[in-house]
Amino acid sequence: MTPEPDGRLGDRVVERVVFPEAEIDRRVGELAREISAAYRPSDRLLVLGLLKGSFLFMADLVRRITLPLHVDFLVASSYGAGTVSSGEVRLLYEPRVDLGGRAVLLVEDIVDSGATLERLVPMLRERGAARVDVCALLHKRLPSVGVAVRWVGFDAPNSFLVGYGLDHAEDFRHLPYIASLE
Ligand code: IMP
Ligand code: MG
Repeated sequence: MTPEPDGRLGDRVVERVVFPEAEIDRRVGELAREISAAYRPSDRLLVLGLLKGSFLFMADLVRRITLPLHVDFLVASSYGAGTVSSGEVRLLYEPRVDLGGRAVLLVEDIVDSGATLERLVPMLRERGAARVDVCALLHKRLPSVGVAVRWVGFDAPNSFLVGYGLDHAEDFRHLPYIASLE
């Protein structure tokens, strides 16, 4: 599939569209239906998006969840400007809301080494969440990942992906599809 003109930036071009816009849209609808069936209004669902990568996925997902819910975000940083995870996870922003007794759905763009989730899921449990589930749009399925991800949009190839929120050094987040840089 040929990248859109938007996929061109300076001398860099996205190489290959891996998940086209229509396929993402269809899959987000399926995830939203499953999530809507998994909670009750009494769970007081808090959908917590990991910025910045999840911003488009969050926006599309919550609009299709048919339950009362609250939305907030976490900012964690693990990558810097490289394409290989540093393994170190820094928390730059976290919500001030009381998680006591609530169901938290952590929304992640892509699970790579799993380091981000391995740090954040126990932290949310310690803060009193009754239940913490993870919904990731993409999962590279590396064997070392020890965190259970309840909902996965797509299994991802083990190459560097951009678009639909995912960046490379802040470029390409706005693309409506997901493409590979390699
Ligand atoms: P992990 O902690 O190694 O699982 O990495 C998770 C974070 O790294 C994700 O939230 C992304 O922001 C970033 N990341 C991992 N793989 C990719 C990729 O292929 N493209 C863009 N960002 C990625
Ligand atoms: Mg990133």
